[in-house]
Amino acid sequence: MDQKILDICVKVSREAGQLILDMAKNPRQIEKKSAFDLVTDADKAASDLITRRLLELMPESDVMSEEADFIKRSSSNLLWIVDPIDGTTNYARGIPHAAVSIAGYDSEKKELLVGCVFNPFTNECFVAGKNMGAFLNNQPIGVSQVSKLENAIAASGYFNHEKLTYETSNLPETWEFLKRCLGLRRNGAASLDLCWVAMGRFDIYWEQGLKAWDMAAGALILEEADGQVSNYRGEKLDIFEGSLLASNKLLHAESTQLLNRK
Ligand code: IPD
Ligand code: CA
Ligand code: CA
Repeated sequence: MDQKILDICVKVSREAGQLILDMAKNPRQIEKKSAFDLVTDADKAASDLITRRLLELMPESDVMSEEADFIKRSSSNLLWIVDPIDGTTNYARGIPHAAVSIAGYDSEKKELLVGCVFNPFTNECFVAGKNMGAFLNNQPIGVSQVSKLENAIAASGYFNHEKLTYETSNLPETWEFLKRCLGLRRNGAASLDLCWVAMGRFDIYWEQGLKAWDMAAGALILEEADGQVSNYRGEKLDIFEGSLLASNKLLHAESTQLLNRK
């Protein structure tokens, strides 16, 4: 892992974080991308800033952002995977739980190299580099040692679309965790859910229907904090596939069983 890539990732995440924090002081323009999916002018402004700055600082790279069409510009394997605001619904409603999420990904080796998730509202900056460990505001972090579901806090998220049914929703899985866990949370920003498992506030996080930009940076941060990520079947995580189970490792096998129970 190249320190320069990590430094750029953190620098640009912080710049975009400052932008969304400043913009949150004034009323936002909010549009709907679809019935249950919001976008604000701050999402678009942050996406533009991040893309411009990443390409200025690292011209030989490409950027995939939630809020922009993907254009392959370089022959490099370095792909930045960007969520300009993760937690847009929170952000649009003034709930201070949202983050800028940027990951550097080797598209040939299919390997995450660096990740930064920055919540400017709490000034919490989570960072990891491959084989370098995970950090919150420059202090090393690690997962919890909770080994029983009855002592675990599990977090999740709920995607929605017009054709959603009870069976295809996240409610059957929720019931399995609800029956067994100390508590459940739905905070509304997947990247921060992963980081909160990485630092031990949560013990488990699961969600389906995610996109690569929701999980790329947070997945590396959690792995580097000695946590575990996989798909719902417990297999190697594919960030382009959508289902994600994350845990402190100790609860992973049991969580996999619950997700496959319904
Ligand atoms: C969403 C958040 C949310 C998760 C959704 C994501 P966005 O991202 O991460 O927690 O439940 O699946 O789409 O739209 O705020 O970038
Ligand atoms: Ca997101
Ligand atoms: Ca987003």
